[in-house]
Amino acid sequence: MRSTSPPRTYRVKSFGCQMNVYDGERMSELLAEQGLTPAADGADADLVVLNTCHIREKAADKVYSDIGRLRREDGTTPLIAVAGCVAQAEGEEIMARAPSVSMVVGPQAYHRLPEMVERAAAGQRATDTDMPAAAKFAALPARRRAGASAFLTVQEGCDKFCTYCVVPYTRGAEISRPFDDLLAEAERLTEAGAREITLLGQNVNAWTGEDAKGRAIAFDGLVRELAKLPDLQRIRYTTSHPNDVTEGLIAAHGEVSKLMPYLHLPVQSGSNPILKAMNRSHTAESYLRLLERFRAARPDIALSGDFIVGFPGETEQDFSDTLQLVDSVGYAQAFSFKYSPRPGTPAATMEHQIAPGVMDERLQRLQAAINRDQYAFNRKSVGLRCDVLVERKGKHPGQWLGKSPWLQSVHFEGDAKIGDMVTVDLAEAGPNSLRGILATQAAA
Ligand code: SAH
Ligand code: SF4
Ligand code: F3S
Repeated sequence: MRSTSPPRTYRVKSFGCQMNVYDGERMSELLAEQGLTPAADGADADLVVLNTCHIREKAADKVYSDIGRLRREDGTTPLIAVAGCVAQAEGEEIMARAPSVSMVVGPQAYHRLPEMVERAAAGQRATDTDMPAAAKFAALPARRRAGASAFLTVQEGCDKFCTYCVVPYTRGAEISRPFDDLLAEAERLTEAGAREITLLGQNVNAWTGEDAKGRAIAFDGLVRELAKLPDLQRIRYTTSHPNDVTEGLIAAHGEVSKLMPYLHLPVQSGSNPILKAMNRSHTAESYLRLLERFRAARPDIALSGDFIVGFPGETEQDFSDTLQLVDSVGYAQAFSFKYSPRPGTPAATMEHQIAPGVMDERLQRLQAAINRDQYAFNRKSVGLRCDVLVERKGKHPGQWLGKSPWLQSVHFEGDAKIGDMVTVDLAEAGPNSLRGILATQAAA
């Protein structure tokens, strides 16, 4: 049973990658423009948007349990919209399986959410999974609110077709947003208080465009242009692909002081036969050479990556090549996942799928190595003096939380406010964060 009066309050729940977080913020802005207000913490919302992720099986299954959980004690449900990558991949199935869902809206069509909400309030169910994204951004309202650190999607989609991955199917082909739009959005974000912007894309460094004078520029050109914004103090980007790394981007890390010394460059495996089966079109060696060039341009750069264990056919030797690559890089941070067969991808039907027990054991060994390196990186930072961008209050009274240039979480006490860039001496390292001492207070 659904109530058919127009919704007044909303909640958007985003899962998956940072691009979904960005999309979730934009959907919230659209709904606010329509006159809805965010439901208070813990309160029931009249409209719930589940902004879903399809990257691994568990993430996709979650959608149905989340829908079930929205049923209220009296048997009614809020208006439910399923957005994001599961909506794109399984829209019709969701509509058939979950009668309480009245809207299915794909990641490239959510600018049409307001009219879908109106129709849904009148009892009409609707699905919109149109692609591509070009029209979406133009139809979104201007940014009004931003935290100290904000996301900005500059590129969408993927043409790489790694054999395990759903993204090319759920997000469509690679497109770059026009430079003028990005500059305008970045300006609005800094006016709204953002001091750091993280440029987002499934392959963010594949971005291309034209600058204000009509000259062709690549991703590093975009970074250099945005660095000219006076109120913007930090620029980050994610996720980049090894094949789209350019000389210019590497050089920018040595030349653009606002570009933070941090690189998230997924490699997935340290074994060349596995990389080939994954259609990654780079080798372990070419990846390592790239990292060396980044390190030459910016010696203190913190490195991060993504790994998949248990890809079909992965032998113990292949896996130990991955461990060896991890040992030789010394990541500051890295993400690792068990391979999850995704419907419609080539790897899902490959021979020699790996037993779950073997995957579990490999994931544990890999994560132990990654955690060891992350802790070592944090310990090595102790004694450094660095800038910290204050992002929020900490757990304890008088405590603040922010990020170091190397994306480490740093907590400290003292006089500060959100959005401040403070100077901190890194005093103590934990596996996941550091304790800092405000430099002004240390000197006093
Ligand atoms: N475009 C980015 C990654 C997007 S998905 C890139 O190529 O770097 C984020 C991560 O999820 C991937 O890097 C990969 O490590 C993981 N991933 C993607 N598909 C997966 C699958 N089928 N099973 C397990 N992990 C997967
Ligand atoms: Fe997926 Fe590969 Fe594209 Fe990344 S590059 S989104 S892993 S297909
Ligand atoms: Fe998930 Fe889609 Fe992002 S599948 S990781 S939400 S691009």
